[in-house]
Amino acid sequence: TRVLFVTSEVYPVIKTGGLADVSASLPEALCRQCHDVHILLPGYPAAMKAARASGSRRQARLMIGQYSVALWRTRLPGTSVTLWLVDCPGVFDRPGNPYQNEEGEDWWDNAHRYQLFCRVAAMMATGQAGLRWTPDIVHCNDWQSGLVPVFLESAPNGPPVVFTIHNLAYQGLFSHDTFRALGLPDSLWRFDRLEFHGQLSFIKGGLVYADRITTVSPGYAAEIQTPGFGYGLEGLLQHRSEHLSGILNGIDTKLWNPSTDQYLDCHYDADTLVSKQECKAALQKQLGLDPGDAPLLGSIGRLVEQKGIDWLLDALPPLLQLGCQFAILGSGEIRYTEPLRVLAKQHPGQLSLTIGYDEPLAHKITAGSDLFLMPSRFEPCGLNQMYSLRYGTVPVVHGVGGLGDAVLDPDQVGPNKANGFSFNEPTAAAFRTSVERALEYRQQRKRWHQLQRNGMAGEYSWKERAREYSKLYQTLLAERCQTR
Ligand code: ADP
Ligand code: GLC
Repeated sequence: TRVLFVTSEVYPVIKTGGLADVSASLPEALCRQCHDVHILLPGYPAAMKAARASGSRRQARLMIGQYSVALWRTRLPGTSVTLWLVDCPGVFDRPGNPYQNEEGEDWWDNAHRYQLFCRVAAMMATGQAGLRWTPDIVHCNDWQSGLVPVFLESAPNGPPVVFTIHNLAYQGLFSHDTFRALGLPDSLWRFDRLEFHGQLSFIKGGLVYADRITTVSPGYAAEIQTPGFGYGLEGLLQHRSEHLSGILNGIDTKLWNPSTDQYLDCHYDADTLVSKQECKAALQKQLGLDPGDAPLLGSIGRLVEQKGIDWLLDALPPLLQLGCQFAILGSGEIRYTEPLRVLAKQHPGQLSLTIGYDEPLAHKITAGSDLFLMPSRFEPCGLNQMYSLRYGTVPVVHGVGGLGDAVLDPDQVGPNKANGFSFNEPTAAAFRTSVERALEYRQQRKRWHQLQRNGMAGEYSWKERAREYSKLYQTLLAERCQTR
């Protein structure tokens, strides 16, 4: 099956979060299962630079309204997956983040930028881009690709579309004026189409018009059909529930493997867990934490409301009192970074804070910590809990979305199956209590090692999970044949 995988970020070319990881590892896994997956990505500066350096060439030129667009064909670095780049001067070739300027404000013309991206995807999908390759299926991801199914709906030979929700909190909402400026037909301005409480909603394009909707865990698929997690879109998602399913993300098990990890100086597996201690000692040394056996608690991620950083902030003082150490890596909002900075200053040797994005350090924290903290308010899937499970680093999580699907608490499943700790009540106190439960559990080394080994033995690869996408594609193609 030929699949056009439309995404706004892909590792290692450009990454702001888990979408980039999935946009690399899922297409790779699908290609291994003999699908011909091509990724379509905006031509951000880093992407264009890598393409030029690898000797890639322009394959087609298109005029879309006033925009002159070039399509470049290259390969996702380190893989055999084809990567198409949408090169459009002044639109995607901007410094920094794909979505925001250096002040952290959304680019003023994001609606125009991603509408253009969607138009190019739709032209590729319908064979209007002047390329020899056309897809059987289009697989869209998040709001940035939400208009693709809208454009394909009116195309006579449009292939079926799968739309994957990685995070319903980001919807691509814009004003009615922007809707008009984009030149979208008035017929789309309806509550059962693209209009959402007086605004243009890109994500509704995917939710209303895609043939199938998926999201990145079964837990989140159920949650987004309820008011607590649906942001007012729960009614629409309930209405489409027959065509909505959750497929748990997998991880790149080559990149995230404690026995071969390129960023680690010491390696280990489930039989050589003692060597994990060396990773801890190395991490303590690198971060200036006091050496020794104090429990080391790791946290990596975007410092935003979703990740429950306020609950973490509430729990830190009492846990520091208990003698815990912390290795925190993240970037995000000042309301979180500032109080974290203050705590780091007050507790040198005990709380290490790294603000910024640091891939090697992420691996070192994942390997060197005893516990990994993910008190997310909501979590569509979450990758870090799977990374830490694989590294024998016991996760403590809020049992929502993909966290609830991956982390099994001894209180729920008993010590023989458990791999971490989870809490259900959405409060800082519940989070703190579950960390304390984990610390107490760690006092008995034998059962602790069992917990670590259970996590390390879990299957987190894409192998079976990619097969579920494969099945979905086949179902759609079969349906298409029947209606013809
Ligand atoms: P989300 O996509 O909501 O941010 P995920 O858990 O799905 O959350 O994915 C986050 C990814 O980004 C993981 O690979 C994580 O290790 C990585 N990451 C997040 N923040 C940082 C950071 N500051 N430094 C290095 N890696 C980070
Ligand atoms: C989103 C979600 C995260 C998920 C990732 C990849 O960024 O916040 O939970 O793991 O997408 O699907």
